[in-house]
Amino acid sequence: MNHEDFFKIKDDWNLQIESLDEEQLVHYGSNLLCGNGYLGYRGTLEEWGKEQYQACVITDTYDMADGKWRELSNSPNALTTEVMVAGENIGDFPGQNKMTTELDFNYKYGVFKRISESKNNNIEIFSERFASYDNLHLIANNYQLKNIENDEVELKLGINGDIWDLNGTHLENFRGEYNSNKNILYLKAETGESKITLVTALSFRFKKGKIKNVKVENEKKSIYLLINVEAESDKIDLDRNMIVYSSNDVDAPLKAALIDADEALELGYQKLKEKNQTIWDKKWELMDIKIKGNILDQLAVRFNLYHNIIAAPAHSDRLPIGARGLSCQAYQGSAFWDQEIFNLPMFLYTETETAKNILKYRYHTLNGARKKAKDLGYDGAFYAWISGKSGKELCPSFFFKDVISGRKIRNHFNDWQIHVSPDISYTIWKYYLATKDIDFVVDYGSEILFEVARFLHSRVHYNQYKDKYEIIRLLGPDEYHENVDNNAFTNYQTQFALKKALYFYYKMENEYPEKLLDLKNKIDLTESEVTAWQQISEKIYLPQPDENRLIEQFDGYFDLEDTNAEVLKERLIDKEEYWGWPNGVAVFTQVIKQADVIQLFTLHDIFSEDVLAANYDYYEPRTQHGSSLSPSQYAVIAARLGRAEEAYDYFKKSAFIDLMSTNKAVSGGTFIGGVHTAAAGGIWQLIINGFAGMKIDRKGLSFKPVLCQEWEEIEFKLNYQAKKFNVTLDQNMFKLKAAAGNDEALEFSIFEKEYTVDAAEEIKIEL
Ligand code: BGC
Repeated sequence: MNHEDFFKIKDDWNLQIESLDEEQLVHYGSNLLCGNGYLGYRGTLEEWGKEQYQACVITDTYDMADGKWRELSNSPNALTTEVMVAGENIGDFPGQNKMTTELDFNYKYGVFKRISESKNNNIEIFSERFASYDNLHLIANNYQLKNIENDEVELKLGINGDIWDLNGTHLENFRGEYNSNKNILYLKAETGESKITLVTALSFRFKKGKIKNVKVENEKKSIYLLINVEAESDKIDLDRNMIVYSSNDVDAPLKAALIDADEALELGYQKLKEKNQTIWDKKWELMDIKIKGNILDQLAVRFNLYHNIIAAPAHSDRLPIGARGLSCQAYQGSAFWDQEIFNLPMFLYTETETAKNILKYRYHTLNGARKKAKDLGYDGAFYAWISGKSGKELCPSFFFKDVISGRKIRNHFNDWQIHVSPDISYTIWKYYLATKDIDFVVDYGSEILFEVARFLHSRVHYNQYKDKYEIIRLLGPDEYHENVDNNAFTNYQTQFALKKALYFYYKMENEYPEKLLDLKNKIDLTESEVTAWQQISEKIYLPQPDENRLIEQFDGYFDLEDTNAEVLKERLIDKEEYWGWPNGVAVFTQVIKQADVIQLFTLHDIFSEDVLAANYDYYEPRTQHGSSLSPSQYAVIAARLGRAEEAYDYFKKSAFIDLMSTNKAVSGGTFIGGVHTAAAGGIWQLIINGFAGMKIDRKGLSFKPVLCQEWEEIEFKLNYQAKKFNVTLDQNMFKLKAAAGNDEALEFSIFEKEYTVDAAEEIKIEL
C-alpha cells in the first residue's frame, strides 16, 4: 500500500489530502481530529452533518440510550454552516462533485484546515480550526469565503443538535437562545438517562462582511441564524468560537459557556491560536520524537504521538483514556487495559503528572472494581474490562453478533479477561520506578495494589495434585480463545502483582506504619491475607519454556490445529464473521488475534534471548494482528532480538493503521472505527523500548539500542526520576546527554555496562 493513496506529506508536521475520497470520510473524521483530552472534534467540513460522521465527543458525558451501550455523548455542532450565493448552496457535499477540497492537518498544534474551490464559479471556502489546550472547552474557527462577486450571501450559522450517535439518541430537551447584542447563541440539552446538562455556545464576529439582516430559526434540536451578509472586497471573514460545558464540569454550565464565548470573541482567533501553540510547544519539548532520514515515518510518528496526547484527559484524575480516545463513541470512551499498557508508558517518562492523574482515576474507580468482584463472587478489586467514569463494568455480555445466524454472542471479556487488574498493578510499579513518587503509592497506589492482590487471591485455584495455584477459565490478551486455563501472560502478571503488593506492604510497614494501619483498617486487611499472597506468589503455576524453548500460551494450546490466518480467511463464509469464541474460525486453531506470549516478553525481561527468539519465531506466523495492539509489541521484541528490519516492518504496520485505514471500522456487526489510541501509544514504545532498547527495572535504567537502516537518526527526551536527558541514536553512535538543570547524576547502563552522567554531561557509545 502506498501512502499517496491516502495522503500527501506537506512537511514533517503537516499532512495533506489533496482531494476527498468519499470512501474515506469516516477515517478523515478520526485522523484529522482536533482534540485536547476534554473534547474531540472530528475532521469534517462545516457543511457536513451526521451522515458524514460529523461529531464532537465530550468527556464525562456518559449516557445509555439503547439499554446496552453506555457511551459518551456528542455535542451539538456549533460550527455548522450553510452558504447560499444567488440561490445556490455552496459546499462540498459527497456525491455532488460541485467543489474540490484540500485538507491540511498540522499535528504540531492540532490545526485542521480546509480549502475548497467551487467548480461552477470562483468561490472559495477557507476554514481553519483547533481545539484549544488553553481553554479545553473551546474550539476556535476562522471561516472565510473568497471571490464573492455577487456580493450578497445568505449564511446559515448556528448550533445543530441533530447529531451522529452510535447507539441511540442521547440528547433531549433542547433549548436555544440568541443574544443579538453580543453575537452569542447557545443550545442547551440534557442526556436522556444520566440527566447531564450539556451547553454548546457559539460566538462570532465578521471581520469582513456587513450583516444586513439576521433571522433566528429555532428548530426542535437546533438553533440557527439566517444572516444576510454583504461581502467586503469580495470576501467574508468570520471568527467564531464553539464552547462546550456540561453540568459535570461546573455547576452552571450555561453561565460558564457564555462567559467563555464572550472572552474568546474578545481575544480573537490569532491570540487564541498563539495561546494554544504555547502549550503545545511545551508538550513537544518533552514528548516529540525526531526521526531523520524518512519524512513519511517522521510524520507518522508525530501523528501517533499527537493522538496519544489528545486522547488523554490530562486535566482530570477522574477520567479514563478511551480505546478510541475522543475520536468517536466507539468503545464507549472508556478505558481498557490499553490505558495502562499502551497509552501510559509515554507519559510515565515525559508528562508524569498525566500518568499520575490517569492512575488516580483507577484509585477513584476502586468502588466500581470492588462491586464487579463482589457481583461475580470474588473479593477485592476486579477492574472492569471497559471502564467509564464510575469504574463499573460497561462491557455488555453480548458483545459481538454472529453475522450468519444473527444470534448474539455471549463474549466473556467482562467476566473472564482478568488481566486488566494485575496490569494496573504492573503500571503502578513502573510509575514508581520511573518517578520514585512514593507518596502516590502510599496514598493511592497501595490501596489498588492490595485490593487487586485480594481479588487475585480469590480468583486462583489451588491444585493439590500439582501443589500449584492455577488460574482457570479466563481469557488472555488473545481474545479469540476464551475459557482457557493458565494463560501464561495472566499467570506471570498475577505473580508480579502479588509480589508488588507484598513489596509495598512491607515497605509501608517499615517506613509508613501509621498509613499502613489506616489503610488496613479502611479495607479490613488481615495478616492472613498477606500471608496467602506470599504463598500464592511462590506457588503460582508459571508455564516454563519447553524442550523447544516454547512457552505454551495456555494449557492445551499446542494441541490445537496448527495453521495460519491466511488459511482461516479462506474458511470464512462472510468476511464480517467474528473469528473468536464460541465457534469462530480461530477458536480450535493456534491462530491468535494478537501478541500474548510476546506481550509477556514486552512487559517482563526475564527470559533468555534464545527463549525470546524461539517464541517470536513460533508465534509470529500464527498471529493475525487482528488487534491494533499487536504489531508494536512484536516490534519491541524484534528489536530486542537485534532484528531491526523486522521491527521496522512492524513499525510500518502499526504507525499507519489509521493513516492508511488498514483496520476495519465494523466487525461482527459492531462499529469499532475511530483512532486506535493503543497503537498510537505503542509507537512510542516501539521506538523507545524497541529501537533504543530502553527499559527500567529494579536494577535501574538501561538501553540496548539497535536502529533500522531506513532511519539515519532518532532523537528523544526522557524524564527518569526527575532527571531529564536527551538521547540520540544513529547507525554508529548512541548519545545520552543529561539536562543542565538536573540536581543529581544519572545512572544507567548500555549493553549492560554502567555509566554515570552529571548535569549537562554527555556520553557517546560507538555501536
Ligand atoms: C483487543 C483488546 C483491546 C480492545 C480495545 C480489542 O480488539 O483485542 O486487547 O483492549 O480491542 O482496544
